[in-house]
Amino acid sequence: MFILNAPVEETIEIDNRIYLLKVNALEISSIIKPGQFLNVRVSERVSPLLRRPFSVCDVDGEHLYLMFNIMGEGTNILAHKPKGSEIDILGPLGNGFNLGGDYKTAVIVAGGLGAAPFPYFTRTLTGKKDILSFIGGRSKDDVITYNLKNVKEATEDGSRGFKGNVVQLLEKNIELLKSKKIKIFACGPTPMLRALKSFCIKNEFDCEVSTECAMACGFGICQGCSIESITEQEKYLLVCKDGPVFNIKDVVI
Ligand SMILES: Cc1cc2nc3c(=O)[nH]c(=O)nc-3n(C[C@H](O)[C@H](O)[C@H](O)COP(=O)(O)OP(=O)(O)OC[C@H]3O[C@@H](n4cnc5c(N)ncnc54)[C@H](O)[C@@H]3O)c2cc1C
Ligand code: FES
Repeated sequence: MFILNAPVEETIEIDNRIYLLKVNALEISSIIKPGQFLNVRVSERVSPLLRRPFSVCDVDGEHLYLMFNIMGEGTNILAHKPKGSEIDILGPLGNGFNLGGDYKTAVIVAGGLGAAPFPYFTRTLTGKKDILSFIGGRSKDDVITYNLKNVKEATEDGSRGFKGNVVQLLEKNIELLKSKKIKIFACGPTPMLRALKSFCIKNEFDCEVSTECAMACGFGICQGCSIESITEQEKYLLVCKDGPVFNIKDVVI
């Protein structure tokens, strides 16, 4: 784990209100895995003790990319960081996705900004596994398909792709999914993950899910990020240290 001041190279608004921040951080970019995250101190002015966690969105040589929208003060400052300024980042943190295993097709399931970890995931698995991406949002403005492959889209208002939620889109494609040897990798809002959990249990699909919660330290010290476990070994797990990626069957969502 490194803590370093990373120079900001670029901040791009890739889509309506969605930002991509590119920083230079070779120590981290050379070892970080898809699904791991960084804890970012956006500014000394904003709750100085509190960092903000962000998934690694993509990696390109010495560059790391973070994807976010403006939720509050921290992300607002981050979106307006000038080129050449520095941000204090801590990482890599968390476990990341387990990409190995006896499956042929990786099925990405994401809602809204849950798409953030999957450009790097897609880059890493390309040429090793087939990839199918099921991406959902409330309306077309919430559907983020940046650097994803073989995308099927769902919107609840029907403004793009299938009309309904992304789990209903999976149901619609059940024959396709059952015809392949798949493993599902997911990230998104809690209602989506709950529905996905029932879908995976019903259809006996293996699924890893990247979870989110409020965090402080980001590496297992403050105990502030527990998630209820259904494993026999532990009653609670820490999202920052044991996760953020879990087998969907192992945690209460
Ligand atoms: C492991 C992990 C990975 C993450 N990866 C990403 C990512 O790649 N891209 C991204 O945009 N966000 C990601 N998040 C969420 C991100 O950390 C928050 O959006 C960010 O901390 C908000 O900071 P802020 O100062 O702008 O907002 P704050 O001022 O802290 O909060 C503004 C409002 O947003 C709400 N809020 C804050 N965090 C969350 C959250 N996690 N979910 C729902 N509501 C929230 C607050 O309750 C408040 O109402 C991740 C979170 C975790 C735990
Ligand atoms: S955020 Fe401190 S233990 Fe997880």
